[in-house]
Amino acid sequence: MKGIVFTEFLEMVEQKFGLETTDTIITKSNLKSEGVYTSVGTYDFGEMVSLITNLSEETKIDVPTLIYTYGLYFFDTLKNGYPNIFKHYKTGFNLISGIEKHIHVHVRKIYPDAELPSFITHEETDTKLIIEYQSERAMSSFAQGLMERTLEHYNEEVTIKKELLNSDGTKVLFTLVRNV
Ligand code: HEM
Repeated sequence: MKGIVFTEFLEMVEQKFGLETTDTIITKSNLKSEGVYTSVGTYDFGEMVSLITNLSEETKIDVPTLIYTYGLYFFDTLKNGYPNIFKHYKTGFNLISGIEKHIHVHVRKIYPDAELPSFITHEETDTKLIIEYQSERAMSSFAQGLMERTLEHYNEEVTIKKELLNSDGTKVLFTLVRNV
């Protein structure tokens, strides 16, 4: 997992839960990196799992909610870091259905070692987008947070339905329907 995912995560934890909680989860996680990350480095995904699990224990907030909250937060990182992408796409649906064939393809060129999910578009019309998330990392709640903020960015009112296609959350179907 890329360092930027860790650095932004720790920044969010500090902002929302304070420096003491941040220090506590780093210590409890017993990290090989010792919690020192650079945004372009690559680190073991297991470190993120430990950090989130310990944050959940400290805050009594369940893991999916924390990952979702992080997705909402990470949107600003993407928007500030890659403003041209948001100028390029004219609708939220176009952007979301463009992740697989355009956005993440670009990410892979810049960071060949990035661990990215797959998004399979099953159906796309002006009012409906059915897209399947697939990833060993089971971070569909992160995807949901990012999608919600993306749609908000385009002022689009959309209802998102999420359906687990397997029990470990590595395959999830999202149905996005416009509210008009
Ligand atoms: C707008 C520009 C975007 C850029 C530049 C971008 C870039 C990235 C990067 C750098 C990572 C981390 C890869 C790693 O840790 O190795 C990532 C992961 C991820 N991205 Fe994107 N992304 C973008 C938009 C989106 C959007 C809109 C979604 C919403 C569906 C999304 C879904 C995800 C998910 C769910 C992951 C976590 C990894 C996983 O689930 O396996 N991305 N992305």
